[in-house]
Amino acid sequence: MTARLVVLISGNGSNLQAILDACAEGTLPARVVAVFSNKPEAFGLERARRAGVPAIAFPKRDGESRADYDLRLAEAVTSFRPDYVILAGWMRLLTMAFLGRFPQRVVNLHPALPGTFPGVHAIERAYAAWQRGEIDRSGVMVHLVPDEGVDSGPVLGVEEIRFRPAETLEAFEARVHEVEHRLLVKTIQEIIAKDANCPNFS
Ligand code: GRF
Repeated sequence: MTARLVVLISGNGSNLQAILDACAEGTLPARVVAVFSNKPEAFGLERARRAGVPAIAFPKRDGESRADYDLRLAEAVTSFRPDYVILAGWMRLLTMAFLGRFPQRVVNLHPALPGTFPGVHAIERAYAAWQRGEIDRSGVMVHLVPDEGVDSGPVLGVEEIRFRPAETLEAFEARVHEVEHRLLVKTIQEIIAKDANCPNFS
């Protein structure tokens, strides 16, 4: 069974690229059926176009409420009948108006360990905490998004990254992204393997 993935992005799309490459190589039994970005200028949309995947710029309309945006987004995503919705560098909080349409099927990537540095700039905040001597490691996690909690759902995959002496933020960030690309694909592989008969959403 080839799982149908809809991927939501907001920027560069390097994690999307890792998924696209794994699908193309056959290491991930899935197909990206659509990519949505709330930022029309996101380079990740270009990555989707190059892979022949529908690339949908989906900005919030002027005056549109968060709930109305999420309902409109849910309708558009549902039309692609996803088995899973992957948040890969997606930078908007989603309400239950969206999440409620895909129970147990929304998966998020967050560049920090469970329970640490929720929200934006997690990599930079972890690095600063290390420099203050508060932590000696950070990491990456992939988790379900059952509700409106920020980066707090049931953990599906996690990998620790120990800081290296005198490491620069740029060097640390590069290592984080390498772990993200690998952990995200591995975790999606595991999810699909456990859920042999992925029910497409009607
Ligand atoms: C990644 O660290 C992701 O976890 C965060 O945004 C960064 C860029 O991701 N949310 P991508 O290159 O757009 O996939």
